[in-house]
Amino acid sequence: MTQTTKRGLIAPHGGTLVNQVADESRAAALTKEAATLPKINLTPKQSCDLEMIAIGAFSPLTGFTNEADFKSCCTDMKLASGDIWPIPILLAVNEAPSGSRVALYAPNGTLQAVMTVEETFKHDKALEIPNVFRTEDKAHPGVAQVQAEGDTCLAGPIEAVVQCVDPDGPEAFLDHRLTPAQTRDAFAAKGWKTVSAFQTRNPIHRAHEYLCKCAQEITDGLLIHPLVGETKEGDIPADTRMRCYQILIDNYFVPDRTMLTVMPAAMRYAGPREAVLHALIRKNYGVTHFIVGRDHAGVGDYYGTYDAQNIFDELDQGNLAITPLKFEHAAWSHKAQGMVSGKTFPKIQGDQVFLSGTKVREMLNNGERPPAEFTRPEVADELIKWAKA
Ligand code: ADX
Repeated sequence: MTQTTKRGLIAPHGGTLVNQVADESRAAALTKEAATLPKINLTPKQSCDLEMIAIGAFSPLTGFTNEADFKSCCTDMKLASGDIWPIPILLAVNEAPSGSRVALYAPNGTLQAVMTVEETFKHDKALEIPNVFRTEDKAHPGVAQVQAEGDTCLAGPIEAVVQCVDPDGPEAFLDHRLTPAQTRDAFAAKGWKTVSAFQTRNPIHRAHEYLCKCAQEITDGLLIHPLVGETKEGDIPADTRMRCYQILIDNYFVPDRTMLTVMPAAMRYAGPREAVLHALIRKNYGVTHFIVGRDHAGVGDYYGTYDAQNIFDELDQGNLAITPLKFEHAAWSHKAQGMVSGKTFPKIQGDQVFLSGTKVREMLNNGERPPAEFTRPEVADELIKWAKA
């Protein structure tokens, strides 16, 4: 397998960029067929996963995970083909439908895809949960979600009738919803050979900005690539975040070196394994360097601060191909008058600006800007508007 494409971009995972979005005439035929098929109503997570498969962001997957891939993925973080894959992408339902073709509907009622059911198997949650999440605690949002899913998994290729299920909705971001193929075209047009990507589900605070800028120093361009699929309650909505990202780019980044597009996956909060999934997704988008900071994709205290970095050392680097850019916990230092980490500046009691999420939320609710050392004032003002709305 070659590691670069003809245009000099990184090769997609597994070698081929998948496209399972039907063209107009095929979509019309699928819509007609769907009216005759058993109907499955997808959960928000399944609907996000379906879009990710369809656009090739989950290449080499062309459909929902089958049993052989499920097992090898849970135990060895690999597909049966040997390609690294850390989290199964399951379509778990309560009851197996009859027939080999089924119509998949998004939570808003839109016909999203037609699927060929090649295999039906038992959802082995006892295998999935401890392996993927490293915990079985029901208080973990990703564990709770899998626990609530059906006991039967359907596997097989999908054909999407639409790319985005709510194109007129506030979280469609159509101007920023680039497929991996479109993103690769944009990189090629800009002449970017090395691209770093920043995954986030939060507004960009000063520590995030620092990571992005360090990455910009060593790559041709930066892709700010927020996750806009399903997140847990309490996370800041994607439309507010998008306004914050744009404001930040306009005021503090070099537009020619910075791209902002969205990634429609759902969060699983699986820490280390999700960091690997996030990296493989970005490889499919044509990214060569992926930022992994402290407790990437973590939640609560389930994962060690650097577990999501260390997991990359266990992987076959040739198959991974994308380079993780590992960053230590960063914060503003009053003494250094700048952003620092444990690698760049000694720890001095009380010197660094740390604010908990709860504290930040409390300040925003009171209409108070967090300190400029923590969040840029323009971003703080946008967040205050949201908190007060
Ligand atoms: S995540 O779920 O997408 O990981 P978040 O948006 O908070 O959550 O983080 C985005 C990226 O920034 C992740 O790689 C995370 O590890 C990193 N990160 C967040 N805060 C810090 C920090 N203070 N220092 C270093 N890295 C950080």
